[in-house]
Amino acid sequence: MDHGETKRSIMHIAEQFLADKLSNRKQLGNLRQLRTVDHSVDFSSNDYLGLARSTELNKIIQGNYELIQPKRNGSGGSRLLSGNTSFSEELEEYLAHLFQSEASLLFNSGYAANTALLSTIPQKGDTILYDELSHASAKDGIRLSFANRYAFRHNNLNDLEHKLKKAIGRIYIFVESVYSMDGDIAPLEQIIQLSQKYNSALIVDEAHSTGIYGKNGNGLCCEKELEQQVFARIHTFGKAMGIHGACVVGSKVLKDFLINFSRPFIYTTAMNNHSLLAIHSAFNFLEKNHHLKKELQKKVSYFNLLLSDTFGEDELYHHIPSKSPIQALIIQGNEKVKNVSNVLQEKGLDVRPILSPTVKKGQERLRICLHTFNSEKEIQKLFLEMKSAVQAIQ
Ligand SMILES: Cc1ncc(COP(=O)(O)O)c(C=O)c1O
Repeated sequence: MDHGETKRSIMHIAEQFLADKLSNRKQLGNLRQLRTVDHSVDFSSNDYLGLARSTELNKIIQGNYELIQPKRNGSGGSRLLSGNTSFSEELEEYLAHLFQSEASLLFNSGYAANTALLSTIPQKGDTILYDELSHASAKDGIRLSFANRYAFRHNNLNDLEHKLKKAIGRIYIFVESVYSMDGDIAPLEQIIQLSQKYNSALIVDEAHSTGIYGKNGNGLCCEKELEQQVFARIHTFGKAMGIHGACVVGSKVLKDFLINFSRPFIYTTAMNNHSLLAIHSAFNFLEKNHHLKKELQKKVSYFNLLLSDTFGEDELYHHIPSKSPIQALIIQGNEKVKNVSNVLQEKGLDVRPILSPTVKKGQERLRICLHTFNSEKEIQKLFLEMKSAVQAIQ
């Protein structure tokens, strides 16, 4: 065998391995595939307030962008090199003020912010206790850390306390204010009491509460006036704010530490000015359009009303109680939930199935996201179609 042939056969072995893994996934019914967004009714995006699709906001962003000088297409480097501009610093000041914290530090995404914070702050010998339903980005950050790590049962204060009693070193607790898959809310007041009792630092991921809770969308911790008792918060801008990117808010010393030690901050190209301006414009827009938050809450109440009217006591599936725009209907089994979702898609309703292993086996679900722009008629249609699709698979 010559060198070329050896190389080809190594590639063949590697690709065969990948193909086998994919085919195994297909057999299990959980193969992930990309698809482009069509024109069906959006019950799946995180664009809760309709800002991602707002032509009005788009015009404001373009108008503001016309005014800035100099125009650069990209930032040209990381924040520590050529990628730092007055726009990033002004935006960080604005965000620190908005989120009522001493300082804020921008990241290119919530994924980067969570991996940065969790891999960098807890050290060897410390302990991280995290809710079992925490987002993958938090779990990845935790895996990168050298600290001890334990999951506690979802929103379960007894289990958290049990684990706090055994924790060693500096202790960090990680929770989400609104859970991305279940749409339910963390009992923040009680978690803070526990964090104080056991002298631990609380980190709250506000990805799904940013924009929809608190004054000008500053999140659930601020709405409940708890922000001073939280060590760090993560706010993302790709969900209700309709743009992309994220920030970590906390003390100045936390910010300086992340700038010095966090690899996802140091070794990446900074956001360009257009993105920074878009984030700033989206918060200004929200400030002038308070009605959006109320409009969203109306849609959530309407959904919950129809839910009890349509399914009553004899549930064909289990609904996780939620007052947030994220609603989860458990339909056990990848095949079943995919069938229901396919029927809904055929009827022009974009509702995505969440399969195991993204969620635990037995917790497969339709994840329904509600938006300001979903009409009552569309929500009615959703229930009608869901009821017949679910009955058909029984
Ligand atoms: C709770 C939570 N945290 C973090 C992220 C990551 O945010 P981003 O999409 O900005 O990377 C997500 C995204 O789905 C999320 O749901």
